[in-house]
Amino acid sequence: MKRSILVTGGAGFIGSHLVRRLVARYPDYRIVNFDKLTYAGNPANLRDTEGAPNYAFERGDVCDVEAVRAVFRRYDIDGVIHLAAESHVDRSIRDPFTFARTNVLGTLTLLQAAKEHWNGAWEGKRFHHVSTDEVYGALGAGDAPFSETTPYDPHSPYSASKASSDHFVQAFHDTYGMPTIITNCSNNYGPYQFPEKLIPLFINNIRISRRLPVYGRGENVRDWLYVEDHARALDLVFHEGRAGETYNIGGDDERRNIDLVRLLVRTVDRQLGRSEGASEHLIDFVADRAGHDLRYAIDATKIREELGWRPSLRFEEGIERTVRWYLANQAWMDAIVDGTYERYYDSMYGGK
Ligand code: NAD
Ligand code: DAU
Repeated sequence: MKRSILVTGGAGFIGSHLVRRLVARYPDYRIVNFDKLTYAGNPANLRDTEGAPNYAFERGDVCDVEAVRAVFRRYDIDGVIHLAAESHVDRSIRDPFTFARTNVLGTLTLLQAAKEHWNGAWEGKRFHHVSTDEVYGALGAGDAPFSETTPYDPHSPYSASKASSDHFVQAFHDTYGMPTIITNCSNNYGPYQFPEKLIPLFINNIRISRRLPVYGRGENVRDWLYVEDHARALDLVFHEGRAGETYNIGGDDERRNIDLVRLLVRTVDRQLGRSEGASEHLIDFVADRAGHDLRYAIDATKIREELGWRPSLRFEEGIERTVRWYLANQAWMDAIVDGTYERYYDSMYGGK
């Protein structure tokens, strides 16, 4: 084995795409997926990878000091790509403590275990934290996109927890010399995304003719990136990025929520053979998300110029592909939308 890489949160949305990519591309690496399997962690996301000889799964909590130490020892980990987190903004508004625990204390637990295990021998080591553009706060309509030097200004409990964990990662670099890297990415979409997030939630709702709760007037803007493009960027930055640096990753594909929702309606209706506009009436403007950030946009010049990365897929093509995947993988969705998730959905949207 040339390298032993610990991927945390590998059973989640982005983590599963990253694990699949690393296992396939690096047969002489050992890829260890450490995941608690919370509501968002789904072993079915990696069915096609389970049997690979260079893949190992360990169920555990990033806040469990002994479990984390044990994994470092058992596999002699020399690289970490840390994705495990509570990731949904609406949940963070309802339950901020869980976000502080997993995202802040969990990250600190991993950093401390890596520091102990590597014991100052930093050569060939790397700790990569997968973070979000939400740490930079919100942009106005005419503002320049976020760059790596934009000051942190998080608003939601989720983004506050990710900002805090970013600061701990940077502190381990600045204080102890740990070779860390942080990537801050915009909104991802694609297969295997948990159906609490806008795109898979709405694709499924359109399919079953359930209402589409658009927060506020749908004027908020997000910058969308196909998840496999993000996984490719993470692979590249992990291997070739400079220690101590931050890299922004984005799709350069900004959309207003309402325009995105209309595109989803058109695409799902067309792929299901319904008449154009058949599901438009499902759009329902509801109370806005508390503290809802108006706009995110990423300036990805640094990763493009230093590492040659750029997105490969434009949004319309990515949405076409994504809708086709969800409609063809109904069993995956149905297995999630069981009692547990339905109860959460009902408590959020009153069962409508
Ligand atoms: P996700 O919610 O789909 O998956 C999170 C994974 O982490 C799950 O498998 C879950 O079981 C695991 N996990 C949660 N708590 C854990 C704990 N205490 N110990 C071990 N495992 C735990 O999330 P995602 O959308 O794939 O996001 C992955 C990472 O990327 C997160 O750190 C998120 O902040 C970041 N990110 C996400 C996006 C996006 O658009 N989804 C964009 C930028 C950054
Ligand atoms: O920007 C990166 C972030 O993108 C990641 O760090 C987060 O983990 C990820 O969840 C995502 O955060 P958002 O809050 O932007 O994603 P979400 O899919 O929840 O919402 C996208 C937009 O759609 C947002 O403006 C809120 C709105 N929305 C969302 C839902 C779930 C609605 O209008 N209605 C909804 O039901």
